[in-house]
Amino acid sequence: MANNAKMKIVVLVSGRGTNLQAIIDAQQTKTIASRIIMVISNKENVAALDRAEKANIPFQVITSKGKSKDVYNKELLKSLQTLNPDLIVLAGYMKILPSSVINCFPNKIINIHPSLLPSFPGLKAQQQALDFGVKITGCTVHFVDEGCDTGPIILQEYEKVHNNDSQKSLSLRLLKKEHAALVQAIQLIENNKVILQDRKTLLREEP
Ligand code: GRF
Repeated sequence: MANNAKMKIVVLVSGRGTNLQAIIDAQQTKTIASRIIMVISNKENVAALDRAEKANIPFQVITSKGKSKDVYNKELLKSLQTLNPDLIVLAGYMKILPSSVINCFPNKIINIHPSLLPSFPGLKAQQQALDFGVKITGCTVHFVDEGCDTGPIILQEYEKVHNNDSQKSLSLRLLKKEHAALVQAIQLIENNKVILQDRKTLLREEP
């Protein structure tokens, strides 16, 4: 598991990049000691890349469009192996990582998901929560394993669902919780406070 105070982080993105921005802000305000060494997007011209550029953080596009999964994943793995990060953060990365990548970085990959897992994994988690009619939902930061949003949970934050919530209104409230949870999870990991025991994590309470 990644456990050094100043971790080298690679962030994988596919779109808007507000979770990336939360990490950038935390790095700039020294809320976290770790630093982002590279942002990798599987899509060109996404807002996340503008955020990286504005913050003077190196970025790469490894496009997945028009390639077989195998070719794309090999390119991604090669880049990650060269960068050799201590932690890989999936921040709105809309692809499933293959076992070749996961096995190469055991317990060094985390993801932010907009539901209280194991409820509502996969796409459109906020809409799934609304359709099911839950009264409380939330977000989850978890280690990435080979399943879809199934890895050991690091942190969860809850959010009440309002009677008149739309997918948009609920997603916006959840997003604030996501940003805080993701930064807090990175803090916990860099301070070696996340202990992995089988499929559970224990969070060290003492300072
Ligand atoms: C977030 O809701 C995240 O949980 C989900 O995709 C969304 C990405 O948002 N996986 P952003 O690109 O970080 O703004």
